Order: sequence, then structure tokens, then C-alpha cells
Amino acid sequence: MSIFKTILLTIIFSTSILLAENEELVLIGQDLHDAKCTKCHTTTVYSRLDHKVNSLELLTKRVNGCVKNAVREDWTDKQKQSVVHYLNESFYEF
Ligand code: HEC
Repeated sequence: MSIFKTILLTIIFSTSILLAENEELVLIGQDLHDAKCTKCHTTTVYSRLDHKVNSLELLTKRVNGCVKNAVREDWTDKQKQSVVHYLNESFYEF
């Protein structure tokens, strides 16, 4: 196989792994979100026109804040990250 083909296949292969990982993260995030995050607000707070979160950094802060102060649970970084991913993919799209 030519070097070029090998490189190309490697790129395609690693991209699909990354995509699959991202998809998995989003699904984990959606499950966590639906189980714990809909007591006080529904998803309309994310999609309303004057939503307050307007960057990925603020979204991460807000999710961390709501996990700690509102849900009052000790989530792992991966759990928090998965919810950030889910919200970003489904609503904010930063
Ligand atoms: C105990 C109540 C409560 C729970 C449970 C809760 N939140 Fe919140 N959340 C709030 C309040 C209050 C606001 C502010 C609403 C406003 O600005 O009108 C808010 C706002 C937010 C926003 C910002 C929306 C915007 O304006 O862009 C995000 C994102 C968010 N919450 C995520 C979460 C996530 C993720 C969870 C689950 C881990 C969660 N919340 C659970 C009370 C809660």
C-alpha cells in the first residue's frame, strides 16, 4: 500500500473514532441531563432568545455551577463534559 493510502486511511479511521466518541458522550450527557436537570427548568432556558449563556466557556461554567449548587451532586469531569456536549450539540451550537 502506498504511504499516501496508509495516511489517508489512518485519518479516516481516527476521525470516525472521534465522531463515535463524541456521539457516545452526547448520549451519556442526554441521559444525565434528562434524569437530573429538568426539575427547575425545561430545555426552553437553553433555546429562548435571551438565553444567558453565550460561549462554550460560560456553558461549561453554568453546567458546573448547576451540578454543584442546584443538583448538589459530585459528578466526574467526564459526566459534566458529557452534559456540556449534549447541550452544545442540541441547543447552543458554539
Ligand atoms: C435547583 C434548580 C435547578 C436545577 C436542578 C438545575 N438548574 Fe440550571 N438553572 C437554574 C436556574 C434558576 C437558572 C437560571 C434561569 C434564568 O436565568 O432564568 C438555570 C440556568 C441554567 C442554564 C443557563 C440557561 C441560559 O440562559 O442560557 C444552563 C445551561 C443550566 N441551567 C444547566 C443546568 C444543568 C446542566 C442542570 C443539571 C446538571 C441544571 N441546570 C439543573 C436552576 C436549576
